[in-house]
Amino acid sequence: MTEKPFSPLSVRLDALSEAFTGLFEARNPLVIFSLLPSAWRGIALQRGKQGLPTEVPASHKAWLEWSYPNDAKEMGALYELALSAQWKASELPWEIEVDPSNPETPLLAEDFFAWDKLETHGIRLDASERARFRHSVAGWMLSQFLHGEQGALIASAQVTESVPLFAGKLYGSTQVLDEARHIEAFHRYLWTKLECLYPINNNLFVILDAILRDERWDMKFLGMQLMVEGVALGAFATIERETGEPLLRTLLRYVIQDEARHVHYGVLALERFIRDGLNEAERREREDWAFEVALLMRNRFLAEEVYEEWFEGLLSRAAWRTIVLESPGMARFRHELFSRLLPRLKSIGLLSNRIRPHYEALGLGAYIDQSPEGVTTRA
Ligand SMILES: [Fe+2]
Ligand SMILES: [Fe+2]
Repeated sequence: MTEKPFSPLSVRLDALSEAFTGLFEARNPLVIFSLLPSAWRGIALQRGKQGLPTEVPASHKAWLEWSYPNDAKEMGALYELALSAQWKASELPWEIEVDPSNPETPLLAEDFFAWDKLETHGIRLDASERARFRHSVAGWMLSQFLHGEQGALIASAQVTESVPLFAGKLYGSTQVLDEARHIEAFHRYLWTKLECLYPINNNLFVILDAILRDERWDMKFLGMQLMVEGVALGAFATIERETGEPLLRTLLRYVIQDEARHVHYGVLALERFIRDGLNEAERREREDWAFEVALLMRNRFLAEEVYEEWFEGLLSRAAWRTIVLESPGMARFRHELFSRLLPRLKSIGLLSNRIRPHYEALGLGAYIDQSPEGVTTRA
């Protein structure tokens, strides 16, 4: 690795412009209004990176139902399924020794990252540096999973309070426990096997903060159950398929089963409400919000913290973002993400002909009319 060529001032300006560039592309003032306070807390104040607990003011209403109706049969079935599918994190095969430098059991596929693109910027990593780099990237990804799981724990507790369906409350209680178990499993893996923990990514903080602060129950469902859980499922599925490390693969298989139920719960809660319970302006706001968050997740979860650790000063942030966006592993992740997410948004009424051209402009049009289960091709 060569001498760092950039001045400290240019590095800081680079970070600042990267933080706000393209933050709001839908231009819907309601969406900007709802995300701006969280963007200020997450990106400008970096509230997730101060080594302190975060207090989020919550303003949703708890909803109690005294007649205990069986008001959503499919959620009742999901509740039964969740009860019989419980597992303990302590029963995973923790005896497996994880060696991130062992080429026989790579944490991530060798072609996950675009090494050749890095080399065009004069950065060449040898075999042991590549193994250490993959260790960093895997540690960063799993740390974001862990932070996302904590957000899911708190959000699922909130939606259990606020969902206006009694069957939804029973089911929601099982998700709270699922998320606690996911935190336990990811934290143990990071702490005892990878021996690292990265801080929460600023953009993930923005999304979690916005979901937890929003007083509308359906926005919590949309944000957490569909968008964040959808991204998590895409990432889990990509790594589960590609990792050569058996303990991580087992852990992800267990978590994926739970997350698939959580996404289904979100779809069940939202499809009728969006169709019958919102006027057109309210529906449009949610449609724009979903597009904005999908863009944030596609364009801004680019391992910036790994960049700062490895290449800050050697490479501009813009070059790093391009390299990561164009890396084969990220392309496979985007395929997993959007082939699930876009058909689901369409099925619940949040992908109308008004917003469709925006997705098509990003090259995502082909996913919209797929069935969520029909994931057979690669992007
Ligand atoms: Fe989870
Ligand atoms: Fe979940």
